[in-house]
Amino acid sequence: MIDLRSDTVTKPTPGMLKAMIEADVGDDVFSEDPTANAFEKRMAELFGMEAGLFVPSGTMSNQLCLNVLTRPGDEVIIDETGHVFNYESGAAAHLSSIQLRPLKGNHGKLTPELIKTAIRSKNDWDPHTRVIAIENTTNKGGGAVYTREELLAVSNLATENGFYLHLDGARIWNAMAATGIEPEFFGSIADTLSICFSKGLGAPVGSMMLAGGDVIRRARRMRKMWGGGMRQIGLLAAAAEYAVDHHQKMLEDDHRRAKRFAEAVSEHPSFNIDPETVETNIVLFGVIEGTADEALQTFSEAGIGMVPFGPKTIRATFHFQVDDEDLDKVLKALDNF
Ligand SMILES: Cc1ncc(COP(=O)(O)O)c(C=O)c1O
Repeated sequence: MIDLRSDTVTKPTPGMLKAMIEADVGDDVFSEDPTANAFEKRMAELFGMEAGLFVPSGTMSNQLCLNVLTRPGDEVIIDETGHVFNYESGAAAHLSSIQLRPLKGNHGKLTPELIKTAIRSKNDWDPHTRVIAIENTTNKGGGAVYTREELLAVSNLATENGFYLHLDGARIWNAMAATGIEPEFFGSIADTLSICFSKGLGAPVGSMMLAGGDVIRRARRMRKMWGGGMRQIGLLAAAAEYAVDHHQKMLEDDHRRAKRFAEAVSEHPSFNIDPETVETNIVLFGVIEGTADEALQTFSEAGIGMVPFGPKTIRATFHFQVDDEDLDKVLKALDNF
């Protein structure tokens, strides 16, 4: 199958497996895993943050960030398409006793003007606005990327109002590939940053929370409390580091293929999409007649996997294990409609 369901479906490459086998390991609950320690330090330096914490998933990373930034009863402003709001099982309410304030942004992106409409007063009966949580690139927003200016504007608003800024950078690598923004910029605007190695980079497991040293110390304790204290994780850190070193450069090809697919879809009478909205590796497109499920069935019969993102919307996500030959087959499958 040509698997465009997600960029999380990639399998470890022989080079990655070799890096895992050769990793020097130790017990990370004792902070003794040399590979994980060095990787955390390297990523923190890369993104201009004081410290890093390797965690099993982007969900745990996002939730740790929100947990350490908030107190019960606080509110987090977020786009209504945000992963934290839609796909983390209500964890913010359960784990941190906080509520989320979803706003209708543009392709998953928030602006200062929009955020201002949601800032609470300081009355006893108001939840306290504490965090602005943004996603870059957006997932349910269709892979949209913030520009440097847009990020600065949101960050300035957060600073002016004494709010924290959390950046869900599950696909920060795609954002950097698309914009050329240097990694340390993200550390300069966000209080907490979550990055993933298991999306387009292709590691089997692993995300990292990046923040100030004190924040990471508190998150480390919370990670243990939530059952995320792991032992010889150098195996996983080595896979993640291999992905950073070897797979990052392939993201631009994913973006090129996604764009090519979007252009072909836009020319097809059965679908609608504005290819200009496709900025990275995610393609969201509409089905004009019938349902997404029916169209997915036709793709499936041609050996192509995609996922529904609403009754009449489909998501196709490109990754490095879909090459140009696969893309040609996907384009040809459009003739089946
Ligand atoms: C934007 C975004 N944030 C967070 C996550 C959560 O990552 P994980 O599946 O590793 O928990 C995802 C997963 O796809 C995502 O797309």
